[in-house]
Amino acid sequence: MSTNHPDPEATGADTPHLDFAGTTPYEDYVQADVLTHLQHLRSDDPGEMVFLVTTQVMELWFTVIVHEWETATRALREDRIPVARDALKRSLRELEALNESWRPLAGLTPAQFNSYRGSLGEGSGFQSAMYRRMEFLLGDKSASMLVPHRGAPRVHAELEKALGEPSLYDETLALLARRGYAIPESVTSRDLTKRYEPSPEVEAVWAEIYASDDQNDELVRLGELLTDVGELVWRWRNDHLVATRRAMGSKTGTGGSAGVAWLEKRATKNVFPELWTARSHV
Ligand code: HEM
Repeated sequence: MSTNHPDPEATGADTPHLDFAGTTPYEDYVQADVLTHLQHLRSDDPGEMVFLVTTQVMELWFTVIVHEWETATRALREDRIPVARDALKRSLRELEALNESWRPLAGLTPAQFNSYRGSLGEGSGFQSAMYRRMEFLLGDKSASMLVPHRGAPRVHAELEKALGEPSLYDETLALLARRGYAIPESVTSRDLTKRYEPSPEVEAVWAEIYASDDQNDELVRLGELLTDVGELVWRWRNDHLVATRRAMGSKTGTGGSAGVAWLEKRATKNVFPELWTARSHV
């Protein structure tokens, strides 16, 4: 198209703008140029691209979900249950999208995975700091999970902060305590840097809440939203486990673990444990 004869369709008053002094406002906001040039492949295998991009897409979802859960955690601390509920509801849709993103990798054969596995070196999702922040928000705290990040000051500082802060579940239980439920002091003043351990008293509180005549009660609905979160996280872990079993059988992981056997153990852990066990007592 000659510049002397501009495309009439592109110059009408009702068509999108084409002229910008610098980069486009879309680029300024989305940074698509940055985002789409972060795919530094390590092998010549054509299948590596989707492996890397799926991993990056999941990292972005982890980031969104951490944002929602931090919003919910803060709102619970301030007794703003509707704000917490909205954030948790958004996170459910996001968890579903996250889980759907397994699809491109769900049917990898061992030979396909082998084509680029070697180029990953010791790299493993186990070293994902954003996934670890999700686990911390769910209550699975562990100071040793900071160790791999000693060489990355910003990541380390963010994780260290998250380690010492109350999790989504800690704030839920604190709210129940403020509402007069018998949450023991050993729970409300627990060492926040340690993994949350299930308590029979907390289980009894959830059983009492769930036995309510009003299944529309604010706390029953909050319990159900958290249960939905737990279920979708469990699904992510299981989809990961199955994809791993298909792609590498019982070989050891690039991160040095026993692989599938290690992931199996992780996948059996219940998120928000008493929300599941209390159901036997309602
Ligand atoms: C089919 C391809 C994949 C295989 C075969 C695989 C394999 C493994 C294995 C064996 C582990 C255990 C740690 C180790 O020794 O490495 C692991 C951990 C992990 N992987 Fe993957 N993975 C795959 C895809 C992904 C993707 C796309 C993500 C997205 C970020 C991811 C995230 C994680 C995370 C977060 C952990 C740590 C889980 C935990 O701490 O409980 N993996 N993976």
